[in-house]
Amino acid sequence: MKLKKLLVSSMVVGGLAFVSSAVAGSCPGVEYSDASKIVKKDIPPGPRLYAVPSNCKLDNPKFIAKKAKEGQKLFNNKKIANCVACHNAPGSINAGNVGPDLTGYMSGLFNAKDLRGQKKTIDWVFQRVADYRVQVPKKYSDPKSPEFVPYYNIMTVNLTTGKLTYDQVCAITAFLLSLK
Ligand code: HEC
Repeated sequence: MKLKKLLVSSMVVGGLAFVSSAVAGSCPGVEYSDASKIVKKDIPPGPRLYAVPSNCKLDNPKFIAKKAKEGQKLFNNKKIANCVACHNAPGSINAGNVGPDLTGYMSGLFNAKDLRGQKKTIDWVFQRVADYRVQVPKKYSDPKSPEFVPYYNIMTVNLTTGKLTYDQVCAITAFLLSLK
């Protein structure tokens, strides 16, 4: 309930900032009208659907095995992906337990249907790491919905925000796919 309030109030504050920047932008002579550009930079980009790039060969077991090591380092690196803040996985030290434990992911959670009732695929896992928001039905993601679930909406958005690159998302996805 607290998180819901926080989300709603941060949306209200964000909305106010946007409106005031629009007003400043429309008045010639207002000092620092460039501030609207800075304000816009802080509005997170909307959810985006991704395709796995052709150089990210996640259907190839050899590619997965090689790339997984890199992904494991990123996963556990607190300054880069920092998945370990919320998830445990092989090689994690002091892992958080906000999100599910991803040990043995491919023989466990991967086989459960997603929130839309769909079967998970390699593309689904890539998308989850890149920008999970498209996978959450509106009834669960809209703070105004009676079925809103904060837990479904707290993972980091990594590719759309530029937090990670395509190659890093590829490596981390390979790591997850290697967790048998
Ligand atoms: C702020 C906490 C947080 C961070 C950081 C985070 N996650 Fe998550 N993650 C979650 C939560 C919570 C869920 C469960 C959401 C749900 O059940 O819908 C989740 C779910 C997942 C799942 C889906 C499991 C499934 O099949 O249902 C995967 C895979 C995953 N995270 C990977 C990652 C990776 C990789 C990173 C780092 C790039 C990461 N997460 C960073 C909180 C986080």
